[in-house]
Amino acid sequence: MENQIDTQMEQRKGRRLVLFPLPFQGHINPMLLLATILHSKGFSITIIHTNFNSLNPSNFPNFTFHSIPDGILESEASSKDVIALAKLLNTKCVEPFRDCMVKLLSDVSEEPISCLISDAFFYFTQAVADSLRLPRVVLRTGGLSSFVVFAAFPLLRERGYLPIHDSQLEEPVAELPPLKVKDLPVMDNVDPDLFNEIVDGMVNESKASSGIIWNSFEELEQSELDTLRQEFPNPIFPIGPFHKYYLASSSSSLLAQDQSSISWLDKQAPKSVIYASFGSLAALSEAQFLEIAWGLANSNQPFLWVVRSGLVRGSEWLEPLPSGFLETLNGRAHIIKWAPQLEVLAHPAVAAFWTHSGWNSTLESICEGVPMICMPCFTDQKVNAKYVSQVWKVGLQLENGSDRLEIERCIRRLMVEKEGEEIRDRISKLKDKAKFCLQQGGSSLQNLDSLVSHISKLES
Ligand code: UDX
Repeated sequence: MENQIDTQMEQRKGRRLVLFPLPFQGHINPMLLLATILHSKGFSITIIHTNFNSLNPSNFPNFTFHSIPDGILESEASSKDVIALAKLLNTKCVEPFRDCMVKLLSDVSEEPISCLISDAFFYFTQAVADSLRLPRVVLRTGGLSSFVVFAAFPLLRERGYLPIHDSQLEEPVAELPPLKVKDLPVMDNVDPDLFNEIVDGMVNESKASSGIIWNSFEELEQSELDTLRQEFPNPIFPIGPFHKYYLASSSSSLLAQDQSSISWLDKQAPKSVIYASFGSLAALSEAQFLEIAWGLANSNQPFLWVVRSGLVRGSEWLEPLPSGFLETLNGRAHIIKWAPQLEVLAHPAVAAFWTHSGWNSTLESICEGVPMICMPCFTDQKVNAKYVSQVWKVGLQLENGSDRLEIERCIRRLMVEKEGEEIRDRISKLKDKAKFCLQQGGSSLQNLDSLVSHISKLES
C-alpha cells in the first residue's frame, strides 16, 4: 500500500496546477482553500489573479502568484453592478490571461502544468485553454442546487417562467420543486440579456470543461448531484466543506477582520447571540437597514452585526442609525465592519445566523450547527435560502422583505418557540454529516482521491 502511494506521489511530482479565482470575496476564499487542499496532495500551485481585488502573496508562501493587468478602472469597479463587472472581467482579461498562460507553459525551468482550475464564472478561459491544448477543470463556488436551476435557464425561458412577471411570483416551478417563481436565481436592476449571457456562459463552459469541483458534500445535495451526473458528460467532484480540512491555511480576506467581535462574544451567555451579516456584495436601502436595526433591537437578544462600508446605499457606514441607538441598548449590540466569520460561527455564544444566504455563509453555518434566518438578496442566494428553510429545514426565511415586526417574530420563532428547537436538532444532525464526509472513507475524501487521480491522468 505504502509503495503504491509512493509511486503515485512520484508520478505526481513535477505536476503544477494553475488556479484562477474570480476576484470577489465569496469566490476567492474557496479557491484559495482548494489550492491548499491540492497542495497537501503533492501538487505545486500557481495562482493567477487580477489587479482588481488583488491577492496578498505573502499570506501564501508555498504558492507562486502572477498578477495580470485586467484594465478595470477604479470608476468601473465602484459604479458597475456585479454582473456588468463579471462581463468586463470576461472581456478584458482574455489577452492578459492568455499571455500569462503562454509564458507559464513555455517556461521549461518550471514543472509541467497538469491543468488550469478556473472559477466557473471565468467562462472565457475554456476557449483559451482549448487553444493552448491545456485541460481546464472548473471550480463552482456555489451549491449544486442553484447550479441545477442555472442549468435549467433555457427550459425556464422556453416555458415562460423567465423573464419573471410580478403576477407569477407565488406560482410553483413544477419542474424544480419546491421552488416558486420568486425563488429563481435572478437579479433585479441588471441588464437581463447580459445576466442570461453570463449564466449561460458559466453553465455551458462548465459543461465543456474536463471536470467540475464543488465546495459541497454528497449527503447535503445528493439528488441535485444525481441530476447533474445524468445531464453533464464530465466528472463532478463534491469535495467540501473546504474550510473543514483543518490544513494550516492563511486568511484570504480582502478586508481586515475585526477581532473585537470575539472578545465581545466571550462576554455573552452561551447560545444567546444573533450574528447578522450579509456577505461581501449585497447592498441595502436606508429603509431596509433601519428595519433590520429596529428588528434586532426589539428582539431583546444580544446581537453582533457586520455593517460593511457601502452596505447601505448612499452611506459611508452607520450614519442612517438614529443618534443614541447603540447607547440605548446598553452593550447588548456590537457592530463591526468585517468579522472573522469562521471564528464567530464556531463561538459558543452564537445562537443564530441572520444571513443573505451566500453559499459560503450557508455552508459555514451548517458546519457549526448554527440555525439560520435567511434574507436572500439575489441570484443563488434565493435558491440557497429556500433549501435552508424548506428542504433541509435548518432555518427560517424572512418572506416579506425586512419588516421589523416580521424580523422580531422570526427571531422569536427561532430562539424561543418549539419550532426553533426542532430546527436546532436538524442542523446539529446535518453538522455531523458534514463532519463524517471528511473522515476516513467519507464521501468528500473519496471524491478528492478521484479528483487527484483524474487530474493526474489529464493529457495536455
Ligand atoms: C457571493 C454571493 O453573494 C454568493 O451568493 C455566492 O454563492 C458567492 O459569491 P458573498 O456575498 O461574498 O458571495 O457571500 P458568501 O458566499 O457567504 O461569502 C462570504 C465570505 O466572506 C465567507 O467565506 C465568509 O466567511 C466571509 N466573511 C463574511 C468574513 O470573513 N467576514 C464577514 O464579516 C463576512
